[in-house]
Amino acid sequence: MSEESVKFNHSAYNLQSWSKQRGLDPIVVDKAEGIYMYDASGKRYTDMSSQLVNLNLGHGNRAIIEAIKKQAERYCYIGPSYGSEPRGELAKMVIGLLPDNFGKIFFTNGGTDANENAIKIARMYTGRNKVFSRYRSYHGATFGAGNLTGEPRRYPLEPGIPGFVKFFDPYLYRERIEFPSEKAASEYYVAKLREQIVYEGPDNVAAVVLETVTGSNGVIIPPEGYLPGVRKICDEFGILLICDEVMTGFGRTGKMFGFENFGMKPDMVAFAKGVTCGYVQLGGVAVCKKVADSFDDRFLSCGLTYSGHPLACAAGVACVSYYKEHKILKNVAARGAELKTALRSLGEAHKSVGDTRSIGLFSAVELVKDKRTKEPLVPYGKDPDGVMKRIVGELARRGFMTYSHENMIIVAPPLIIEKEQLREELAKLDEVLYIVDKSL
Ligand SMILES: Cc1ncc(COP(=O)(O)O)c(C=O)c1O
Repeated sequence: MSEESVKFNHSAYNLQSWSKQRGLDPIVVDKAEGIYMYDASGKRYTDMSSQLVNLNLGHGNRAIIEAIKKQAERYCYIGPSYGSEPRGELAKMVIGLLPDNFGKIFFTNGGTDANENAIKIARMYTGRNKVFSRYRSYHGATFGAGNLTGEPRRYPLEPGIPGFVKFFDPYLYRERIEFPSEKAASEYYVAKLREQIVYEGPDNVAAVVLETVTGSNGVIIPPEGYLPGVRKICDEFGILLICDEVMTGFGRTGKMFGFENFGMKPDMVAFAKGVTCGYVQLGGVAVCKKVADSFDDRFLSCGLTYSGHPLACAAGVACVSYYKEHKILKNVAARGAELKTALRSLGEAHKSVGDTRSIGLFSAVELVKDKRTKEPLVPYGKDPDGVMKRIVGELARRGFMTYSHENMIIVAPPLIIEKEQLREELAKLDEVLYIVDKSL
């Protein structure tokens, strides 16, 4: 099929996510290998966002492809109540990666329904109905997960589900209070959260849900002591702590799971994306032993036709094995350190860069009109003149493919990126930031 026909079908018959539908002009990917994609004319594009921060091991990984093929030859689908080798094996592998308080996995199709089921399980376990989550967060687009979500993608679902309460993130760059240390900031945010929980009635609160490191909403890294502080409040009131590790799980932050960076153990972990790197869609919620055991004699009112799909789980087994066998975390540590240093330099060199934040190979460049006032390059929730779209377009013209959110550019390449490849791409970012500087 010609490139024109693919584009026509895409725009004429397909509704594209999170977009106005007029004037779409997608790049048609002809083939993809490692961190690169190619169009029909052979032009190369570098995947600097790992697609939607899911393609951790890059395109064309033979081990994953062969595992899917092998399972497809055996059988492609079997219902959730049948025993299936890849399903059980992957559940065991993921539990093996988590702290010793974890017991079982409920598999889902992706991250949204992982969060949906996590809050459902928390409500069944505690018999309470309220759920706390943060404003600067994305947890999915369906009703439950969409109501957990704090950012503007929540608005079409409003008026929201009663009992979904929002609290503030520890977004230090935009905090008006100047704290003497990260610890002091954590104490403040944790105390405010505790106060809010008290006002809402702690006996009504089933769970606190948070992205361990806030992802799309700006790679907001929790300050020292914050997550252990939230853990302490949850323990005090018998509230379950759910970490949404849909983006941060499977090596993105330099640890297998993001919370390992912060000295805290959650009660549940929602995961997706990196578990199969998108080769087949899969998500899941890992549940601690005490919660898992409570369903021994209580009906687990959760279900999906494709819970633990054999092809997805076979891909998952191959992915998790690959992370371990190829010591992917080692590469994340080395490249992550280079990325952090390079972004810091870009922050110093460019007047349009207000802040850069990174952990592992997970980073955001926050653009401002004025470094001193920190006025965002585009107002919150709006970009009427398409400023960010143009910046992402300039990057794409140079073959640097990523996406923006609010006034941030997300930089999150596949975890297999090599030193020279990273250096080459960051030079393109530097070039585009000069254009942004000039526009101010
Ligand atoms: C932190 C987080 N949670 C949940 C989701 C939703 O996952 P999915 O799109 O697989 O349903 C996303 C998607 O980007 C995410 O970043």
